[in-house]
This record gives sequence, structure tokens and C-alpha cells, in this order.
Amino acid sequence: MSEIGVGVVGLGQGRSHLRAFQALPGCRVVAVCDQKADLRARVAAEAGIERGYGSLDELLDDKRVDLVVIATPDHLHGQHVLRALEAGKHVLSEIPMATTIDECRAIIALTDRTGLKYQLGNQVRYAHCLQDVARLLAAGDLGEIFYGEGEYLHALGDDIWKREPDHWRVTGDRPQTTLLGGGPHALDTLRWLMGVTFTKASAFHAAQQTEYGTTHTTVAIFQAASGATAKVTVSYAMARPYCLYYSVYGTEGTFERTRQQGEPGGLTTNYLYHNKLTGTAQMIPVTLPNWTNPRLAATVSAAGHGTMEYEQARDLLAAIREDREPPLGPREAAASIVPLICAMQSADQGGGLVDIPDLG
Ligand SMILES: NC(=O)c1ccc[n+]([C@@H]2O[C@H](COP(=O)([O-])OP(=O)(O)OC[C@H]3O[C@@H](n4cnc5c(N)ncnc54)[C@H](O)[C@@H]3O)[C@@H](O)[C@H]2O)c1
Repeated sequence: MSEIGVGVVGLGQGRSHLRAFQALPGCRVVAVCDQKADLRARVAAEAGIERGYGSLDELLDDKRVDLVVIATPDHLHGQHVLRALEAGKHVLSEIPMATTIDECRAIIALTDRTGLKYQLGNQVRYAHCLQDVARLLAAGDLGEIFYGEGEYLHALGDDIWKREPDHWRVTGDRPQTTLLGGGPHALDTLRWLMGVTFTKASAFHAAQQTEYGTTHTTVAIFQAASGATAKVTVSYAMARPYCLYYSVYGTEGTFERTRQQGEPGGLTTNYLYHNKLTGTAQMIPVTLPNWTNPRLAATVSAAGHGTMEYEQARDLLAAIREDREPPLGPREAAASIVPLICAMQSADQGGGLVDIPDLG
């Protein structure tokens, strides 16, 4: 495969992926797709893309498209990913992978059968301020991991819902839930840092008055096969600035992200502690660029959330070329989404333990 042809479906967050792929060598964005004619015409013109399609099927018929980016509403991801794989395309999907366990299972089966590559777009795994700590944790430097916390707190009401009151996030028979919508940023990133697989989930929704009547705030507890536990809190309606918080506790040390995070393009101060640093009475502050990898900032400043989408797209292209599993491939993605689907089941029934199936 000389040049990988990319098609982008859903031109909200999809535009971040579009810019990321356009900044990368060895691929070309050949088509965009959105139901909104004015939006797709504007994006195609601005980005210099010849073809703009109004439906996924038209884009899938385009032989020049080898890789499809799915950035449509959450509840459509599963079926859109499956249709793209069935059409013989590789896929980068926005979070969540799918909203049902059956769809996750089918995506794994189809990638196994076809050899096509699937990657979940939790770009937070590429946050610059988390990369070093992920390496420390993976090397065992903080000892055996027994507890972690993740939070995704995003006051979306001030933004999308007020700008577009009939937005899919709050209308229709399947409005977005925070647990499956933003929740993968919290749970998948935490699971990656902790290096565990969760087997049990239990959760509660907070009783919260919102003008939309949707489920905004949920707290979930997970237990891993290793016995480690984790707590994840998500909210689309907390009266505070945006926050992606993680802490990971090991037998030798601790990592805590700050909740005072500042601008995505700015610096953030996270905290580390290690037993071997005798006499340390305080957590050790580590100040780093928040989301943007400084080595790439000059080339891809406008790609998406800092340089995270760029690095994610780069890794998927490499996996396609080298015919290997992408870093956040279908099994790894399912190991994060299925626990959230189980936690949602628990919270919807008012709490209680749900066994998380292992999709292999
Ligand atoms: N990873 C991130 O940081 C991040 C950020 C924002 C959104 N997202 C995710 O991206 C997805 C899209 O969210 P958004 O904020 O961009 O929403 P959006 O409403 O801005 O964009 C979605 C677009 O999809 C189009 N669309 C809907 N159904 C379609 C269909 N069947 N065929 C073609 N086009 C269709 C809509 O017209 C719309 O333009 C969601 O799953 C959301 O959770 C992820």
C-alpha cells in the first residue's frame, strides 16, 4: 500500500482527526462525510478535499478510501465501525467503541477474520504529561498497583447544549450518557496506567437536576482480576472547569494528577511519591506540557487536542503498514468499554454488582 486513503465521517470532532491525518506523511484524506450538506461542503473546501459524501455507504463505496474515521454520535459507532470493516476498510473510531457488548464482540470477530486494523480514539493515552508516568508504572517502579482513581468532569452544558438545543447528546431516544460518552477518557486511561483488566463493576448515578433530563453524573467502582480496585467519576454537569484526573497507588509509590489543570496547550503540575526517597514529606511536583508533545508542537500545532490525535493517527498508520495490532486495538478497547457498559447496567438498576465478560 503506497499512500493510505483516509475518509472522515462526522465533521465535529472528526475535523481534529482530519487535520492530524493531513499533517502526516504516507496518507491522504480523500473524502469527508456528514449528513449536514453545508458543513461537509465548508469542511471539504477549507481542507481542500475533493469529495464530500452525505452518507456512510457512499463513502464506503469509494475505492480510494482505505481507512475510515468514525466520529458520529456515540450510539452509532458500533454499527458504523462494523459497516466500515465489512466494506474492507481499516477504522479509527471515536470513543466509545460501541454502546453494546454484542457490537464489541462483533468488531473483535470481524478484525480477527479480515486482518483489518481497528483503533479506538482515546487520545488521552498520548497526553504528554502522562507518558513518563505510564512508562514508570509499566516498568513496575511504583511497585504493585492496588488502587486507582479516574475522573472525567466536563461542563458541556455551557457549550454544545446551549449552542444547539436539539443536539444528539441530549435529544432522541438514545441521548448521550457521560459514562459511555466521556467515560472512556477516564476509565481507559486509568486502566492503561494501572495495567489491569477489570472483572466486576458497580455504579450509581447521582440524583441531579438538569434542564435536559439526561444522565450526567455517575460514580463507578471496578475490581480487577489482580484484586486491584478503581473508582471512576464522570460528569457532564459539574460546576467547575474541565478536568481529567487520575491517581494510581502502588506498594512503592504514588502518582496523582492535579485537578487544577489549566489550558490544554499549557503546563500542568502532577505529583509523584516514592518510598525510596527518604524524608520526602510532600508529594514531588512534576511540571510538564499538558497535552502537547513539545517535540511535535511546531509541526502539528492545530491538529486537535494538542498533538494527541496526531500521535494516535501516526501509530494507527504504522500498524496498518506493518500489519500489526494498533496500540489501542479491538481487544484492548473492549477491555475498557465493556466495564463501562456493565457499570451503566449497574447504575441504571440502582447499583449492584455486575460481572464483566471477558471478550478474549
Ligand atoms: N475524543 C475526544 O476528545 C472527543 C471530543 C469530542 C467528541 N468526541 C466524540 O466524537 C463523536 C462526535 O461528537 P461531536 O462533538 O463531534 O458531535 P457533533 O454533533 O459536533 O458532530 C457529529 C457529526 O456527525 C454527523 N452525523 C450524525 N449521524 C451521521 C450519519 N449517520 N452519517 C454521517 N454523518 C452523521 C452530524 O451531522 C454531525 O455533524 C462523539 O462520539 C463524541 O463522543 C470525542
